[in-house]
Parts: sequence; C-alpha cells; structure tokens
Amino acid sequence: MQPPQRLVVVSNRLPYVLAREEHGSWGLKPGSGGLVTALHPVLRDRGGIWIGWPGVTEAVPDVHDILRAAGRQVGYSFVPVLLTTEEVEKYYHGYSNEIIWPLFHDLQGRCDFNPEYWPVYVGVNRKFAQVLAAHSQAEDFVWVHDYHLMDVAHHAREDGCQAHLAFFLHIPFPPPDIFMKLPERYALLNSLLAYDLVGVQTLRDRRNFVQCVRTLIRNARVRVEHNLHVVQTDDHETRIGNFPIGIDARGYAKRATAPEVEQLVRAIRERYPNRQLVLGIDRLDYTKGIPQRLRAFANLLDRFPELHNRIQLYQIVVPSRMGIHEYDELKAEIERLVGEINGRYSELGWIPIHYFFRSLSTTELLAFYRAAHIALITPLKDGMNLVAKEFCACSLDKESVLILSQFAGASAQLGRAALMVNPYDVEQTADAIYQAFRMSPGEREYRMRRLRRNVSTQNIFWWVDSFMRAVTDKGLRDFPILEEYIPEHH
Ligand code: UDP
Ligand code: G6P
Repeated sequence: MQPPQRLVVVSNRLPYVLAREEHGSWGLKPGSGGLVTALHPVLRDRGGIWIGWPGVTEAVPDVHDILRAAGRQVGYSFVPVLLTTEEVEKYYHGYSNEIIWPLFHDLQGRCDFNPEYWPVYVGVNRKFAQVLAAHSQAEDFVWVHDYHLMDVAHHAREDGCQAHLAFFLHIPFPPPDIFMKLPERYALLNSLLAYDLVGVQTLRDRRNFVQCVRTLIRNARVRVEHNLHVVQTDDHETRIGNFPIGIDARGYAKRATAPEVEQLVRAIRERYPNRQLVLGIDRLDYTKGIPQRLRAFANLLDRFPELHNRIQLYQIVVPSRMGIHEYDELKAEIERLVGEINGRYSELGWIPIHYFFRSLSTTELLAFYRAAHIALITPLKDGMNLVAKEFCACSLDKESVLILSQFAGASAQLGRAALMVNPYDVEQTADAIYQAFRMSPGEREYRMRRLRRNVSTQNIFWWVDSFMRAVTDKGLRDFPILEEYIPEHH
C-alpha cells in the first residue's frame, strides 16, 4: 500500500554517503553533522523520501541499486543528485562553505567572495529542484534543508512542483550589517522568499532575517500572525518562524543503556578512578572554538595546579570538509596546541589531553557521553549544537555538568541550567571548568534534571510537528509510523 502523502526531505548530503570498502567495491557510511542525526529518526519507518548528494563525484555504476538496498533497510527511500567535480568545487566547497558558512557565522574575514561560485550554486540548486519536481506530488510535505539549497523553491515551481515548499536553516542567520556584505544579497533573500515557510533556529535568527527583509526588499510588507512573521511580496506570502531543532532524546537515553555501552563506560571510568573527565566533541570546524577551548584548558591547569592529575580532557574532532584550506590549517593548529599543552603539563601517569581525530562508533559516542563528568561545548557561533543536547539526554545518572557557549543556539533553551561562557574569554571558561569540577552532587543533579526535561520535551518530533503546523493543517500525526513498511530486521 502506498502512503497518500509523504515527507520529502531535500538536503545537500544524503544521510548515508558512498565510500570505498577495503576490497575496492562501493558501500555506504553514515554522514556526520547535526542535520543528519536529527532528521534520520523522523523519516525512519515513516516511508518518506530523502533527496541528496551521495558524497562522491566518481561515477559509481550501481549507485541506484546500492541506495535502493539501503533504503529498504532503514525504512525510507534515497534519491541521489549526482554532482560533477566542478560543481562540488564551486557550489559545495566554494559558495556554500567559503562564503555562506563563514559569513552566516559572523566570520566574514574567512570568506572568499569568488564571483565564479554563485552561477554554479544556482545551477546546482536548479538540479536539485528538477529531481524534487520529478519525485514529489502535490500532497507531499516538502522540506528543503540548509544553506546549500536556499535557491531551490522558485526553480522547483518553474519545474511544476505543486507541493508546499518549506525550508529550514540549520545555521545562524546574520544581522543586516553582515548580510549586506554578500554580493548576491538581493538574489538570495528573494530566493528564500519563494518558499512558503522559512524556519530558523532562534528568535535572534528570526529577527535578523526579518530585519534584512525590511532593509533590502522594497515591496515587502511584514505582519505578525501568532508566533510567525508573514512577509508579503507581490503575489506570494512567506511565513518566517523560529523552531529550535531537538533530538530523539528517548532514543538516545535508551541506546545509552545498551550492555556494550555500559561496559565501555565502566572501562573508561575504571581506568581513571580519581579523575573527572571533560568532554569536547566537534566536527573539525573553526566555528567550534576548539583552539580557544584548548587555551582555556591550559589556563585552568596553569592557575589551578591542584587539578593536575585529577582532570582529563577528551577532545574528539570528527574529520570534516578536508581539502578546504581553512579546515586543513585548523587541524594543524589544534594538533600543535594539543602537543604543546601535553608537552608542558604531562606528568608520569597523566596526560592532560586525549585527542582523537576520527569519527566515533555509536557505542563509543554514547559511552563518552555517559562517562564524562563535564561537557565543554564552546562554539564561537553555532546554529544549535546537538552535541549539547545529546550529552544531556545520555546523562542518565544526572551527575554531570554542561558548560555551554552563550553563542550556541542551544543556549536559548539550555543556558539557565548550564554554566554559560563566552568562548573568547579564556579565563572565564577556565573558571567555569573549575566551578564544574567543584560543583556539589546536589547542584549537578538539580541542573541536569532541568536540562534533561528540556531536551526530552522539546525533542525532534515536537520540532517537526510545530514546523509543519506553521504552514499546513497537517502535523506529524498525519505521517504515522507505517508498521507495514518496517523492515524485518528493525
Ligand atoms: N557525531 C557524528 N560522528 C561522530 C561524533 C558525533 O556524526 O563521530 C554527531 C553528533 O552525534 C551530533 C552531530 O554529529 O549529532 C553534530 O551536530 P552538532 O549540531 O553539534 O554540530 P554540526 O556538526 O552539525 O555543526
Ligand atoms: C552542519 C551543517 C549541515 C552539514 C553538516 C556536515 O551541520 O548545518 O548542513 O551537513 O554540518 O557538514 P558537511 O559539509 O560534511 O555536510
């Protein structure tokens, strides 16, 4: 039986990407980053479609078969959009990650405003729109994600797509004085206004977006309806709302009690029985504030020598966007700092920073979340930061402390129960680690209880539901879990 309406997700990258296996054939591996981890549980078992790039430019002859087989296993279908090397270079590396990513994170000094990037960005967005038009029907809920695909809507309409078109921006939206620096500022705002709904993470992002519209789009009229802004241009209305993305908190909590996770948690804690473990987990990205965090940790060791041998930082850096100069340089800087700090403070039997440069398996990730006493999450700017929420969901014993940057989107929801820091203020961050280290069990529990309550109520299903209801009369309940589609091994 075919479901009458489907969720159709469109994002730059599919949740699984092609990767060469040891014997040379092609297989799939999970993609990294918050977008994928957040949306996968929504589509799983609901029988929808995910349209995206499978992550490589080589011609893989059986790509459709590989993706079809994977789709049968996870419970929804994958539709690939294939990109050439030039497209990846100019649309993904170039416009998306060397202009929009740094600019929208207020780091304009890192932008490369190369005029060759924009036409390729538009061309690739048109390509996505064509695939979308071919695979969607009027009753579907079409949901385009993130900064790579801000220009899909009007191409999709030209190609005859009849469905409601919603867009969600996972990264921050900058204030007008920064957005104005974008050479294509008018075109890009008009592209976004071709959607029916534009969702951003926080109230601040929404204010920034609306201010940019008011400043740059002459014929736009803006009114407020309930908790949305409605922008009217000539013959079209776009709703703008802030929807802080959540996680499948219950799913995390459940998986965090698996026997293999428990075993690894015990192994980690037994190895260092008298030390508190501080955890940092980030994609390799200059927005995550990793060098500043390492300097703060060094400052802590310098000013509070009584913590030597009693505290240990686990810094996990997940490889990302290698080949972009700024990312390659950042890796070198992090490794130099880790080497310097360990060289300076190590003692027999104690190395202050344990550094990993790789992705973690799910078991390792959950075990680190559970074993850590303190999470140190200090991005310079972040749309949301799901690691912060996952850490809370997995803190089942409620004896751990969250230190969180005031510039992470998550601080709007979690800031009051976390220890909030300005990541540029190395001494303040060091003081927060010291405060966390000394925090009483009662206070830890009180704060963590509040954090856990927030991540479990404002979870991913709540997020999808509120997003849908902002633009249609449908909610997540209208896309029920399709028992008959659940594959046997689930
Ligand atoms: N994560 C991952 N691989 C790992 C470690 C973590 O995919 O080896 C996940 C993590 O669980 C989280 C996501 O990556 O869901 C990071 O999301 P976040 O919002 O914190 O930052 P982003 O990477 O999206 O900027
Ligand atoms: C962030 C972005 C996502 C992106 C992810 C991983 O979460 O908001 O859109 O998928 O980083 O980055 P990558 O460039 O590897 O897809």
